[in-house]
Amino acid sequence: MVNKNIIDVVLTELDYAISTIYNNNNISDLKVSAKTTNKKLDINKAKQSERVMRINHMGEVCAQGLYRGQAVFTSDDKVRGKLYEICDEENYHLKLCNQRLRELDGKKSILNPLWYLSSFVLGSIAGINDKKWKLGFIEETEKQVEGHLTASIKQLPKEDLRSKEILQIIAKDEKRHRNTAKKIGSEDLPTKAKKSMHLLSTIMKKITYYV
Ligand SMILES: [Fe+2]
Ligand SMILES: [Fe+2]
Repeated sequence: MVNKNIIDVVLTELDYAISTIYNNNNISDLKVSAKTTNKKLDINKAKQSERVMRINHMGEVCAQGLYRGQAVFTSDDKVRGKLYEICDEENYHLKLCNQRLRELDGKKSILNPLWYLSSFVLGSIAGINDKKWKLGFIEETEKQVEGHLTASIKQLPKEDLRSKEILQIIAKDEKRHRNTAKKIGSEDLPTKAKKSMHLLSTIMKKITYYV
């Protein structure tokens, strides 16, 4: 007999993946004071901002893939609840990046479906190992994201204060996510896992810079 629960999970996750990858919502009442428009940036600077924001948009797609993958396979209800809670905020970040990319007339990564899938698989591995790792996967992900956001802010043209402010809003939440994981009791991930996560994200960022 076909297990209906499995079908339900697959359909729910497919629906979530599609609505994340193809999410075109933005934030209509964005509380950002800097009003930099793409018209104020010269063509090269606007292109640089677009690239930085495309990578960050991809990062928010991946964060949701990672956490949804972990949530499916974790046996810990508390961890799953926390993962869904964090996912809601990653979804808000995705909308912020959507908004800024739209303002810059920028394009999202055409490879987002592949990035989501890769992240989901990585998250699933974390979910399967959650007895050992507990919330270490969230802590390590958020730590790497924080480092990436600091680098992203430096890569932005100095005139693009609006993108900078948006990334600062996101960075604040990511720091809180990491602290939440620590408070609940995360375990340090094996070095091999940390390095694999870093390698995968580096490859994704390098490719997403262009497409
Ligand atoms: Fe995020
Ligand atoms: Fe986060």
